[in-house]
Amino acid sequence: MKLNKILNPVRSCALVAMCSLAALPISADEAFSPYVSESGDISFPEDFRLSMTHMGSWFVPDGGASGFHDVYTERATVEAFRETGKFPDGATVVKELRAHESGSYTTGQGVSHSTEGLKQWFVMIKDSKGRFADNGVWGDGWGWALFKPDSQGANAAADYKADCLSCHIPAKDNDWIYTEAYPILNK
Ligand code: HEC
Repeated sequence: MKLNKILNPVRSCALVAMCSLAALPISADEAFSPYVSESGDISFPEDFRLSMTHMGSWFVPDGGASGFHDVYTERATVEAFRETGKFPDGATVVKELRAHESGSYTTGQGVSHSTEGLKQWFVMIKDSKGRFADNGVWGDGWGWALFKPDSQGANAAADYKADCLSCHIPAKDNDWIYTEAYPILNK
């Protein structure tokens, strides 16, 4: 047995038959999400482009949100959704907004591609246990966050009901997610 297993109370519980619950850390939910603090603050998932799976994209032709909306989630979330039809507890959904340019290519006219112009990121983290009832960015089964390029360190949303929810009402029956753009969630 490796020393760190002996010293780590959580892991050693799996190995020791008589294991008191008091040995577990009080914060407990380290396994819930690497992007959520004990008080429910949501941090920017820095590594998402390499560590997650591309679920699908939207293209918005005009306006402030114009460009590609590329949406990512964990591979394990896709696998769980395919089994259960639901987003599992702790699932992360990241939407990245990228500017676009259009031009003529050998495939046709008016072909659009994304550029290096990053606009902002929307993040949702599935919470099926109502962990952070006192925190204004948690509710209706999710944590809700907005990150901007000049302030990636802090969630720019403070009240998900005012900042997010009304725009997601058309997707309410799909757990607030616009699943029609994510065919990979189905086998
Ligand atoms: C102006 C309306 C509007 C607001 C405000 C809004 N959303 Fe959305 N959101 C949408 C729409 C519509 C989509 C899917 C189509 C698109 O991206 O254009 C979407 C997609 C998403 C996605 C990708 C998963 C999905 O549901 O398809 C995430 C994550 C997300 N939003 C999070 C948030 C969070 C967090 C907030 C608040 C900080 C927020 N949204 C505020 C309209 C909105």
